[in-house]
Amino acid sequence: MAEKLQTIVTQISQITAEFQRELAGAESRNDAEQLKLKYLSRKGPIQNLFGLLGTLDNQDRPQAGAELNRLKADVQKAIDAKIESFYVETASIESFDPSLPGQDWPVGGIHPLMVVMDEIKQVFAGMGFRIEEGNEIETDYHNFEALNIPPHHPSRDMHDTFYLGGKYLLRTHTSPVQIHVMESQKPPIRMIAPGKCYRKDTPDASHSPMFHQVEGLCVDKGVSFADLKGVVQAFALKMFGRDVKVRFRPGFFPFTEPSAEYDFSCFCKGKGCRVCKNTGWLEISGAGMVDPAVFGFVDYDPKIYSGYAFGMGVERIAMLKYEIPDIRIIYENDLRFLEQF
Ligand code: DAH
Repeated sequence: MAEKLQTIVTQISQITAEFQRELAGAESRNDAEQLKLKYLSRKGPIQNLFGLLGTLDNQDRPQAGAELNRLKADVQKAIDAKIESFYVETASIESFDPSLPGQDWPVGGIHPLMVVMDEIKQVFAGMGFRIEEGNEIETDYHNFEALNIPPHHPSRDMHDTFYLGGKYLLRTHTSPVQIHVMESQKPPIRMIAPGKCYRKDTPDASHSPMFHQVEGLCVDKGVSFADLKGVVQAFALKMFGRDVKVRFRPGFFPFTEPSAEYDFSCFCKGKGCRVCKNTGWLEISGAGMVDPAVFGFVDYDPKIYSGYAFGMGVERIAMLKYEIPDIRIIYENDLRFLEQF
């Protein structure tokens, strides 16, 4: 073998032996990284030998080149494996620390609006009202016509909604549940129907395009406006205690005659605030005696039966109860708000 080739082959075995020894002694990822630098850098011993290739006789070069390439690849592979082994080991050691505190799983709660909804249901259930469920997708007939609101009636203006094509729409109030209940049941009826409603309203401190109502309906022989007032008073007392006052004002709804609206006194106690728009009162509900025309749509005889109905805004009640100054806060799901309940 040519002398120069012999020298390179000898050096390759020396480097291999020394590398193996040093690799076996590497005790950390850092040690291994240092070895990588030492053996594989551009000024390292292997690269140095590559530099000598040019001094070899032509016929010796391929053999020396092949052996050098093998050496370089072996060293690279061995170091990478060593570095990897430290990653695995340290990762498993670092990830298990028995002194760390346990993981904190935050406990959720019931949304304040639903707390209020549940309370409303309980109060009315206590007065003998059944809880009925309606559909958020309604027909034009149930949402409007059977409530004595024919097409082109001006009161439809305030009930612009999301139309789903054909006769379907997102209900603008819970009043259509009155119709469903009267279509399928005979008097006496005493029910509430809580749920979501939708309107094309621009959000502000007291409006939202999605909101909740609780509908109420009582139909029997001899039901009067005095019964309505009594039930509303009892509800206010149960829900808010003696501090809250109730006031009825005349109103108009096509499905009640006479119609009214009732307000509860605001938590600002008349000092005036954003919620009550400085009036000291918060409008809670529309109400009235069921219009005989509505009984006509469901085949109830208005000469035998009479009834009252109401539709309360649940957000309004929650705002009063928890002194929430802006309806939008209710839907933002900001934990700083929700955690207070
Ligand atoms: N549905 C009415 C609305 O959302 C509120 C209402 C008024 C409901 C009078 C009633 C009622 O049941 O009798 O504007």
